[in-house]
Amino acid sequence: MHLRRKWATLCGVLALGPALVSATTLYMSPSGSDSNTGASTKAALKTLKGVLAKVTATKPTDAVDIVVAEGTFASQSVIWNYFNGQPITFAPPTGATTKPIFDGEGTGLTWFTMGDSADAAVPTNLHFIGLTVTNYWLGLDLGRNKAPGNSYNEVRGMLFERVGAFYTHGLPNPKGYAALRLQQSSNNTITGNRFHGVKNSNAADSDGDGSNEDLTGYIHAIYAAHNSRGNVIADNEFNQVTGDAVRTRDGSDDNLIEGNRFITAGKYSAYSDWIADTGDECPSHGNRFKDNTVGDGYFGPFKAGFVTHVYGPDDRCSDGGGGTLPARIIETGTVVQ
Ligand SMILES: *[C@@H]1O[C@H](CO)[C@@H](O)[C@H](O)[C@H]1NC(C)=O
Repeated sequence: MHLRRKWATLCGVLALGPALVSATTLYMSPSGSDSNTGASTKAALKTLKGVLAKVTATKPTDAVDIVVAEGTFASQSVIWNYFNGQPITFAPPTGATTKPIFDGEGTGLTWFTMGDSADAAVPTNLHFIGLTVTNYWLGLDLGRNKAPGNSYNEVRGMLFERVGAFYTHGLPNPKGYAALRLQQSSNNTITGNRFHGVKNSNAADSDGDGSNEDLTGYIHAIYAAHNSRGNVIADNEFNQVTGDAVRTRDGSDDNLIEGNRFITAGKYSAYSDWIADTGDECPSHGNRFKDNTVGDGYFGPFKAGFVTHVYGPDDRCSDGGGGTLPARIIETGTVVQ
């Protein structure tokens, strides 16, 4: 008896052994139901809101794997506010041959918004892998405006297609901002994604004054604003983007933009750094634009010297102590096609 119990305990320990990182797995499927447990493919949940409700109720403290079945999820939208410091991953099952599709159906939705968490110091650690996000006004909004916790997120192998106000009949506003927006969001890796069709209209009224504006320049494939630092943006393809494909703003320093391909992407530049004229925004410094392949912009060839560009004064917010800040953009190895 005693021996047998010992043996059973030993077997249990061995069985757990190979799973070096323990994880809670939840399944979601277009044919699922939010009244299911989510514990198996047969009991899959249906919506991101359903998954959020589940983890909010059960409060897993280990990593959470959300296995997203292939197929099309219609008009889903979530403000995600469950974080436990461990990786929380949204990805198709191993062996999937297509990307699961989140289709916003052009009604003006934002697909996934990072909401506030109880403890702003805990890394958000969200991972988005191998999904299609299409027909949304804004795709992924890592916009939890609270440093330092908004960090160590990963966006990999995603397809953002037909995103922006051009595809949502100007809803909820004709001025769309981004397929992927970061605000106070740092140390993320954004790799191997494809951005195809990120657009605003060239004639729409965003401020209700009765006259149309050209809004094409306001939207970016990746928009990293307000102290979004140390992000790696690598090996992505940007195709058909009406505004500058990558835009940094306001103290978003030390980002690496490397090995990406820009095709008919960008209004004035493939990558630009910008600050608002008024207020207390700071130019970003030390951003590296390295070994990228750049074709024409959305409206034709860029002006000479405009593959990258900075706007606004370079010296605002400098401490006056005579220290030398790195250049705002350090461009090397661009291959112009
Ligand atoms: C990002 O990484 C750098 C370098 O490892 C670190 O100093 C910084 O605190 C990190 N920032 C956040 C918000 O995690």
